[in-house]
Amino acid sequence: MKIAITGITGRLGGALARYYQAIGNKVIGLDRLACDLSKTDSLAITLDQIEFGALINPAAMTSLEVCENDPELSDRVNAIAPGILATVCAERQVPFIHISTDYVFDGKEPGTRSEKDPAKPISVYGKTKLVGEEAALSAYPQAWVARVSWLFGPERPGFVEMIRDRLVQGEPLGAIDDKFSCPTYVDDAAVALDHLLSLTDPAGGLVHVCNPGPTSWHGIACEIVARSEQPQTPVARQKLDEMTGFQAPRPVHTAMDVSYLEALTGHAMRPWQEALAAYFSTETE
Ligand SMILES: NC(=O)c1ccc[n+]([C@@H]2O[C@H](COP(=O)([O-])OP(=O)(O)OC[C@H]3O[C@@H](n4cnc5c(N)ncnc54)[C@H](OP(=O)(O)O)[C@@H]3O)[C@@H](O)[C@H]2O)c1
Repeated sequence: MKIAITGITGRLGGALARYYQAIGNKVIGLDRLACDLSKTDSLAITLDQIEFGALINPAAMTSLEVCENDPELSDRVNAIAPGILATVCAERQVPFIHISTDYVFDGKEPGTRSEKDPAKPISVYGKTKLVGEEAALSAYPQAWVARVSWLFGPERPGFVEMIRDRLVQGEPLGAIDDKFSCPTYVDDAAVALDHLLSLTDPAGGLVHVCNPGPTSWHGIACEIVARSEQPQTPVARQKLDEMTGFQAPRPVHTAMDVSYLEALTGHAMRPWQEALAAYFSTETE
């Protein structure tokens, strides 16, 4: 099958392209040049010229601060474009997966969030992503909106690589210990999304995709340290409200429950600690 993937220069889009190529699919990589999601007036016409048998949309404005500073652009890319992509897929009757986020929740209640929990985003990023979810499902009820959280993987280094590199270089470590979610290894997300894409007669709707087990950035850092050759290295505890670089509000408790994904597909996501170990082992191969 020809699978079109947006955002292939990004962390998840790049991993999806790598995954589908590895299992022998033809990937139509839609980078920003081929398909600019901010050009909402011409997006459907652009897609009309591209042949595909399924579409996955991980592309988004993902910086909370950029979204907060440019809500109009965030609206076009994160809120309006997903509805246009879904409409095109509905007309062609081809599978569509739109990627969303745990930041649609307000994060006020400890515990894990299911797909049935109400979404009440507190940032422009979260608000525009929620409107994008609704637009996609309203245009194409058989589409999937897959919410992921705290992505890590080789395509774009982030927090995980920063902690590991600082550890190797003997630099002091610190991480926020009062914000909780679930990490998601991009390779595991790709497998889970492929299970969704392979469902015949899909119900469509919201589905949570992450490596389960609520943790904080401090918890992730401690896990990296514990599995390293310097397992006694201390990790200082930092607080969310000390982060002066964070202008946009961040929700505190957004760990997601993945039992619906397993019920739908029969595929169980491994705990994030196993996923992290798998990522580091592939890096050293
Ligand atoms: N990263 C996380 O921890 C996280 C957590 C929860 C949910 N998510 C969701 O997961 C998805 C993937 O996130 P990610 O971390 O892989 O994102 P990312 O690494 O920030 O990549 C974003 C991608 O979107 C593309 N993009 C941005 N604006 C665009 C536009 N106007 N037209 C076309 N493409 C555009 C970027 O292209 P350029 O390279 O050209 O900028 C890039 O390829 C997103 O939907 C995000 O909301 C991510």
